[in-house]
Amino acid sequence: MYDQYNRKIEYMRISITDRCNLNCTYCKGFDALTHNDILRYEEILDICKVAVQLGIGYFKITGGEPCARKGYLSFIESLKKMDGVHEVTITTNASLLKKEDMDTLKRIGIDGINVSLDTLDKECYKEITGKDCIDLVVHNILYMKSIGLHVKINSVLLDETRDEEFLNLIDFGNLHSIPIRFIERMPMKDDKVSHRTKKDILSLLDNVEIDKNKYGNGPASYYQTNRGTVGFIEPVHGKFCDQCNRIRLTSTGYLKACLFHKDGMNVRNRTNLEDMMKEIIYNKPQGHDFEKDMAGISMSKIGG
Ligand code: 5AD
Repeated sequence: MYDQYNRKIEYMRISITDRCNLNCTYCKGFDALTHNDILRYEEILDICKVAVQLGIGYFKITGGEPCARKGYLSFIESLKKMDGVHEVTITTNASLLKKEDMDTLKRIGIDGINVSLDTLDKECYKEITGKDCIDLVVHNILYMKSIGLHVKINSVLLDETRDEEFLNLIDFGNLHSIPIRFIERMPMKDDKVSHRTKKDILSLLDNVEIDKNKYGNGPASYYQTNRGTVGFIEPVHGKFCDQCNRIRLTSTGYLKACLFHKDGMNVRNRTNLEDMMKEIIYNKPQGHDFEKDMAGISMSKIGG
């Protein structure tokens, strides 16, 4: 369906838990919700059915860390089988995946895996996430790639990251044909707007040319460079709200049409779900205003 600004809304991000096994410096703080606070998988599937009727065919499973919730593989399998669902992808830190989980993701036909990885440096990874598990993450990325899963890397542009770490990520992505996208850090809670931008990264590279090929449902832009392809997602400096095609469901059942705005409604146990959803979509805010205000909510709750 279209919203009031004529944007076609066809993509829903679903946070299935706000828990995460990592504790990234810029994304801390979940509220230890209890099992009863979060939507049961059947409830989420019911909401998805309505979403599909409204023309939403693309779903991204997020968290917190989605793999931290029991049963997520069966849930994804059910969603994949639902009529009208075109694509189901997942965003994960890849540190909880066992070999058999990755094999299952392949078997059930997951359409894409976005791995969050901000550095390849062992010590820096530990500093950012609080966990010393970079080797496992890299191993899992390479295993997923080897069995033919569509893996992408999302890397938040942190002020403290050294140029060399950015270049290592770009080289790693290109060596293994894994698209790498740098994301501007958005001001959540009491953060400040990030200063690192696409320009800083491109200035480290030569022969930079924009690449009009677009991979995926998102707002990433890609460049060809002397070190290969590199992508960017610029919510702050390259505000893409006019092309935003998504809504978000939090783990407690709050349906939001904008990551940034305090819009939306709790749709749990609502009998008039379809009408509520139409209203939320139609009234999707025109855009965020990071420059003036912060989102005031932690990313682990909304799922990025
Ligand atoms: N700005 C941009 N991206 C963020 N993420 C978490 N917090 C922020 C932020 N403030 C990213 C995670 C993950 C994705 C779901 O969102 O690193 O890649």
